[in-house]
Amino acid sequence: MKVFITRIISQAGIQLMKKNGIEFTQWEEKRDLTQEELIATCQNYDALISVGQDKIDKHFLNSCKHLKTVAQMAVGFDNIDIAEATKLKIPIGNTPGVLSAATADTAFLLMLAVSRKAIFQHKRILRGEWGFYEPTANLGIELYGKTLGIYGLGKIGFELAVRCRNAYNMKVVYCNRNPNPLADQELEAKKMSFDELLAQSDVLSVNTALTPETKGIFNLDAFRKMKKNAIFINTARGGIHNEPDLIKALEDGMIWGAGLDVTNPEPMLPDNPLLEMPNVAVFPHIGSATEETRNAMSRLAAENIVAAYKRERLLHLVNPEVYNG
Ligand code: DGY
Repeated sequence: MKVFITRIISQAGIQLMKKNGIEFTQWEEKRDLTQEELIATCQNYDALISVGQDKIDKHFLNSCKHLKTVAQMAVGFDNIDIAEATKLKIPIGNTPGVLSAATADTAFLLMLAVSRKAIFQHKRILRGEWGFYEPTANLGIELYGKTLGIYGLGKIGFELAVRCRNAYNMKVVYCNRNPNPLADQELEAKKMSFDELLAQSDVLSVNTALTPETKGIFNLDAFRKMKKNAIFINTARGGIHNEPDLIKALEDGMIWGAGLDVTNPEPMLPDNPLLEMPNVAVFPHIGSATEETRNAMSRLAAENIVAAYKRERLLHLVNPEVYNG
């Protein structure tokens, strides 16, 4: 079994593959492979660990039908055509659970950074603007007792809600297709419609997957329905918000601030007006970027490779239908 990995990954996964006698190559250049390069490379490999946003679409999958698995080193898999993979009987793996705490920490950090204009304050010092104490300037807003709204309350949203309740006694409301009984019970969370979520949230955090249903759902129409002092946080996927609409909503005072770990496109260009706004914090997609979490993610991806190598069912599987029939 020979595995191609589209980035250099953390040691836990590397060690697990070595222990199982699996051969692998890591792509070491600091640039994305083009899809044609990836297709050509994969002809010499039996399985792929996909890291980042490799385009695993119909064309890729049909050009690489021989792959025993594509093990995605991420929880999200919006870059993969799952229906086509299932049709071609290629099991797709991902890395759920292990990154929930780190990603929730990132959302929490963004919430605080925006509420106190932290990135802007730092930039003021760099610009030599820390000169004169003005009691009414550069003021943030407090979070105690406010309402946290979560769009897509799964594991990451739950972790964020726990933090917000414990730190600031925030009320938790959410919009999901299905109820989340654990959150209802332990956090007194309340499920509501999308419009109610927009109207009630002081902090609105996006923690859902990017799907045709969620793509661009945070647009001007949605921002208009939010509170004027609301903070919008997105640590899920940049495609879920419409970025020009978000800029307009902030410029026109429809909402108070925004914290983004994901942008559209990625990477964000340095001349994006969001980067100069006082009430905005932007991170370069670092939600799961801790030593511990990246190690755990690489281990889960490697566990999937080992399972495929042993002709067993993947442990962390996106398309179970692949084993039907
Ligand atoms: C994920 O796991 O989907 C994160 O966004 C990391 O890329």
